[in-house]
Amino acid sequence: MADGDERLIYLDNAATAWPKPENVYQFMIDFYKRCGVNPGRSGFDLAIEAGNIVEDLRKRLTKFFGGDEDAPERLCFGYNATDALNLIINGILSPGDHVVTTNLEHNSVIRPINHQVRDGAVEATFVPFGSDGFVDPNDIKAAIRKNTKLVIVNHGSNVLGTIQPVSEIGRVCKEMNVLFGVDSSQTAGVIPIDMKEMNIDVLAFTGHKALMGCTGIGGLCVRKDIEIRQTRSGGTGVDSLYPYHLERYPYRLEYGTPNMVGIAALWAGQDWIDAQGIENIYAHEHRLAKKLVNGFKEIDGLTSYCCNDMKNHLSTVSINVEGMDAGNVGTWLDVNYNIATRTGLHCAPLAHKQIGTLEKHGAVRFSIGAFNTDDDIDAAVSAAAEIAAWVQEQSLQAK
Ligand SMILES: Cc1ncc(COP(=O)(O)O)c(C=O)c1O
Repeated sequence: MADGDERLIYLDNAATAWPKPENVYQFMIDFYKRCGVNPGRSGFDLAIEAGNIVEDLRKRLTKFFGGDEDAPERLCFGYNATDALNLIINGILSPGDHVVTTNLEHNSVIRPINHQVRDGAVEATFVPFGSDGFVDPNDIKAAIRKNTKLVIVNHGSNVLGTIQPVSEIGRVCKEMNVLFGVDSSQTAGVIPIDMKEMNIDVLAFTGHKALMGCTGIGGLCVRKDIEIRQTRSGGTGVDSLYPYHLERYPYRLEYGTPNMVGIAALWAGQDWIDAQGIENIYAHEHRLAKKLVNGFKEIDGLTSYCCNDMKNHLSTVSINVEGMDAGNVGTWLDVNYNIATRTGLHCAPLAHKQIGTLEKHGAVRFSIGAFNTDDDIDAAVSAAAEIAAWVQEQSLQAK
């Protein structure tokens, strides 16, 4: 990392939150050094202690997500949200089923669905969002058919930052008797989630973003009356004589040795979120996001997408500078200003297609995190203004 005058201004928190809170780094190292053994596979004290943190974290996250606290075994750990979303989509859909999803999805939803569609097994409907970046629950309702098995929706768009009305969509799904899955990759840790209140049947989460864990840990939380078929098999550490993968949770959806450093990181991430208060984390990021958007509004030749009033909005803002490719803007921000953003299609091609940014090679995404400051935002606005002014000057000279 650059330091002094070279300080990196990190505005790529939607890709991964960075830096992590200090207590997370400390706990990861301390825990792994002291107790980095295989959990629950052996009977010695350290293995039991390692197993305990896994089980305690199941309980803690089940509560955090408003899952069924009397069934914490239904909080299953995997590698990340992509892993969890594959388990959900492939473990729920069967040949002949229909699935409803949206144009706001990440490829970790689009691709598993498309594979099933290509294999001829299922049909899918991708519901567009409105010009404000929100999916209308009535459009979800209208897309539901007799054979619709699952509605799966991105809670917070990683391109537009809009927070989707999941409670209303959950109500529709309940009324229509269809399973409701939510991808909480961009919201978990920054927006309160209550699966029971929101009628969410299954939630996918990733550990390395606002949950403040590390890469390689994530999972899913499954409500009590919902069954997801196992689609992988392997070691579970128990019932080794049984020739098949175990049906009972959490084993049904867990495979092999878990990422214990990741479990420790998620545990400490929960400590940090509890100490800050999730509302305070959101308020800080949202204030900075509003400041960024207001700054961008003053710049000629800059277009921002779906962030007019910033209501129901994450701290993620995508823009384009008229006359310059998104990738070049990102490179310029990086090389000349030491500002890290993410350009391109953000693994969400349908969202870019709908807002008309495919030809521009996507957009430049600024995503604010808990450790950004007012100075970071001032620097981002002034850099964007300089780039936009330069492009305009070039085009005037070319005339
Ligand atoms: C909305 C959304 N869904 C899914 C993912 C995939 O997360 P992971 O890479 O942790 O699996 C991301 C990551 O950027 C995302 O933003």
